[in-house]
Amino acid sequence: MSAQLLDGKSLSEKIITNIQTQVTGREASGLATPALAVILVGNDPASGIYVRNKRNACIKAGVRSISYDLPASTSQAELLALIDELNSDVDVHGILVQMPLPPQIDSETVIERIHPDKDVDGFHPYNIGRLAVRMPTLRSCTPYGVMRLLAMAHDDLKGLNAVVVGSSNHVGRPMGLELLLAGCTVTTCHRFTKNLAEFVSQADILVVAVGRPELVKGAWIKQGATVIDVGINRLEDGRLCGDVEFMPASERAAWITPVPGGVGPMTVAMLLENTLQAAKAADARLA
Ligand code: GUN
Repeated sequence: MSAQLLDGKSLSEKIITNIQTQVTGREASGLATPALAVILVGNDPASGIYVRNKRNACIKAGVRSISYDLPASTSQAELLALIDELNSDVDVHGILVQMPLPPQIDSETVIERIHPDKDVDGFHPYNIGRLAVRMPTLRSCTPYGVMRLLAMAHDDLKGLNAVVVGSSNHVGRPMGLELLLAGCTVTTCHRFTKNLAEFVSQADILVVAVGRPELVKGAWIKQGATVIDVGINRLEDGRLCGDVEFMPASERAAWITPVPGGVGPMTVAMLLENTLQAAKAADARLA
């Protein structure tokens, strides 16, 4: 292996320590403790683990976590009523509804119901739109975390060829917008892309977020590229792997994220940063 690792675990710990220092400072000067409402609907085991990680990170950062664990039978109207209540509660700065939701609930309706000022996931069309017009406010956590990882490897991204594989609303699309904002020449590949290998081989910066184990082959990677693997897939034998073939990719890349321990912890750190930012914006509105 010749690539250097982009260690998201240790960077996220530094960011969380920094948030905790700021939270303590706020409290000392009489400002509110940032508060995040975390809503889990149903019993999806993976979602349960993600939510536990987020609630534990809140504790480390000194952020108040308010938990709502709702049954899988919760109706859309019940969930929307809870969001309305949290939207109008001045003591709540951020609202997170863990995805996916049970089939009777439409996730886009839920995302749009969260007030954009409290949308700490950065999923609301208003917040994605702000990013699209170079006026970012609350930014989607995974792409924002990827940008922080890229800053460890690159002083400046201007003019680099960035290829994003995956065009989801929550990762691929805002990821392309973040890279564009940073001055990259951006290509987004998706399920209809012809000759994926050719696009990948042109990438100085490659971000893969498709949720398909080792879809991107190591041999496709450009020599010296920076490879960000957002995927986290569990194989039949129980092992975790990313969307990129790690070992052969790391022979060609200059920088690469491990799976796990790369992007995942950064998503959580950015969620907490957004919660602190939302609390600061609420202070400013009250002043
Ligand atoms: N499900 C998987 N990742 C996420 C995330 O970042 N936020 C929410 N709300 N749900 C998710």
